[in-house]
Amino acid sequence: MANPSLLILPGDGIGPEVMGEVRKVIDWYGANRDLSFDVSEDLVGGCAYDKHGKPLADETMAKAQEADAVLLGAVGGPQYDVLEFKLKPEQGLLRLRKEMDLYANLRPAQCFDALADFSSLKPEIVGGLDIMIVRELTSGVYFGEPRGIEKVGNERVGINTQRYTESEIARVARSAFELARRRNNKVCSMEKANVMESGVLWREVVTEVHAAEYSDVELSHMYADAGAMQLTRWPKQFDVIVTDNLFGDMLSDLAAMLTGSLGMLPSASLGAPMANGRPKALYEPVHGSAPDIAGQGKANPIACILSFAMALRYSFDQGDEAARLEAAVEAVLADGLRTADLMGPEGGTPVSTTAMGDAIVAKLNDSL
Ligand code: IPM
Ligand code: MG
Repeated sequence: MANPSLLILPGDGIGPEVMGEVRKVIDWYGANRDLSFDVSEDLVGGCAYDKHGKPLADETMAKAQEADAVLLGAVGGPQYDVLEFKLKPEQGLLRLRKEMDLYANLRPAQCFDALADFSSLKPEIVGGLDIMIVRELTSGVYFGEPRGIEKVGNERVGINTQRYTESEIARVARSAFELARRRNNKVCSMEKANVMESGVLWREVVTEVHAAEYSDVELSHMYADAGAMQLTRWPKQFDVIVTDNLFGDMLSDLAAMLTGSLGMLPSASLGAPMANGRPKALYEPVHGSAPDIAGQGKANPIACILSFAMALRYSFDQGDEAARLEAAVEAVLADGLRTADLMGPEGGTPVSTTAMGDAIVAKLNDSL
């Protein structure tokens, strides 16, 4: 059988550096676990704009639609701030999400024991934390029409529209309930039903899907602002959180920081199954392109490496191999290896991006 195909889009800033470390891990699986991929690489974001005059070429979009999975680094940089909106690097990423219809964005926030002291919260509050935010990714205010900046009378008006259909809510709710069944069987749905009609509908539809198909899962509802407060007060009360595109964007950054560093967290964006049964899928770190540290060997490759672990689990049915990779990451952290973002008052051994990647590969070797 042909090897599964993997499209790699390193993107901008630290994207190419962290992806370089993922390539080492991919090569390791090919050489040691009989798990080879047909890897191809292409451009997205500012680098695609530099070459093609737009943040995602149509040929790249077509390749992404064909790939068994897409792995993305990060997009964006200050030199692109002056571009008109539809040419900005972020639009390349948003186009991938929208055209691949990747409606369920899984953002785990897991606190590695070795980093519990590194969180801004007390270790007893974050130690052992393991929550999963399921963010709706293809609708809501990110894509709703009408949108734009218009002249009304003698002033400008900025317009965006929060819009959700029943079916959009129901499908992401199902993703959350399905995940909860494989975890601790709890879902908390977050919206602002107190001020937004789209939130009222969100709550109704989640409740209906739950009653009809998932009554074995414990369901609760929270206003998203209170959810943010509860996430900092006692995050371990949550298992799976399901929320809309914009609230999910904010709540997942908040949850990420509970774990100590944004440089640690992976994500999976999943759509409907393809003909081969695999879901349409794109994997990317939660962090951005960090242009301020790009090219200096300071970036933490762990979020991107863990994104590949999610690909092993969700696209390629290799849960055991994903766990092997996660254990290798945990082991290097336990050894005290720290990229710059993880250097706290308690110290550790400072390592560069490539040294971190090499250390993880060495732990993979140890695991054989
Ligand atoms: C994220 C990012 C993106 C978003 C940007 C880069 C478009 O913040 O993936 O969380 O807002 O969705
Ligand atoms: Mg974000």
